[in-house]
Amino acid sequence: MQTKTYQLTNEAGLEVTFRDIRIEEAPILASWMRSTEGTQFLGQGAFCQSQESEVEWIQKKYKSTDSIMIGVESEGNLVGTWGAHEEHYARWGTGSMLGNKEVRGKGIGSLAHMFRTWYLFTQVPMPIFCLESTVLWDNNLKIQNWGSYKALYKSRYRNVGYSQQKYHFDGKWIDCMHLECHNPKFVDVNRLPEELKEGVEITIQILNWVSERIERV
Ligand SMILES: CC(C)(COP(=O)(O)OP(=O)(O)OC[C@H]1O[C@@H](n2cnc3c(N)ncnc32)[C@H](O)[C@@H]1OP(=O)(O)O)[C@@H](O)C(=O)NCCC(=O)NCCS
Repeated sequence: MQTKTYQLTNEAGLEVTFRDIRIEEAPILASWMRSTEGTQFLGQGAFCQSQESEVEWIQKKYKSTDSIMIGVESEGNLVGTWGAHEEHYARWGTGSMLGNKEVRGKGIGSLAHMFRTWYLFTQVPMPIFCLESTVLWDNNLKIQNWGSYKALYKSRYRNVGYSQQKYHFDGKWIDCMHLECHNPKFVDVNRLPEELKEGVEITIQILNWVSERIERV
């Protein structure tokens, strides 16, 4: 899928642009995927992608009807991506990365997640019931991806359980946390456990918040 270009600005004036990744940006993607900094929390080590394989990946995403990859731009530079793909009928897996450490922790990821929820729940042509995400999280080994967990939590993804020793990180097999965010338009709130119910109400607020602020450029 390809997208239009959108801009979202938060109360603090942070402005982030979301758009297709351009073919000529393949070397930037390849450099992130080759670096341990870029792939630090992706759970499989560096992916060692070549520029050619990134060109193929971008083209594949343009053509795909059940997945999407969006570029995250800040101050005129491509700084990250988020992606989503259909895992089971109407349940989409989501993931994001900011390629370099210096752009993390400044609110860009939180804005990207809120935009992503709005985009997937309101802009794609097919109904999406639920978004899923997985975060490296191992309490025994004290490896916890707080940046990802907090940015997802702010977008009202909620913890729905753990898998044991699923991903490889820093030479060890470690546990991960699974999170979900339900589409208020489709979910039967009464059948959700109490701890997930309040998330749905806040997802409505996030969708409204983004709708009021989003600009097509
Ligand atoms: C996950 C990621 C996209 C989040 O984007 P970000 O721009 O860094 O996130 P934000 O700046 O919006 O921060 C969200 C919250 O997490 C906190 N946070 C960010 N990085 C943190 C860290 N390393 N440790 C603890 N808290 C952190 C922020 O302070 C903020 O909390 P607050 O709202 O209470 O102030 C980004 O950090 C990233 O690309 N990380 C590496 C790849 C990755 O982990 N991808 C996700 C795989 S599941």
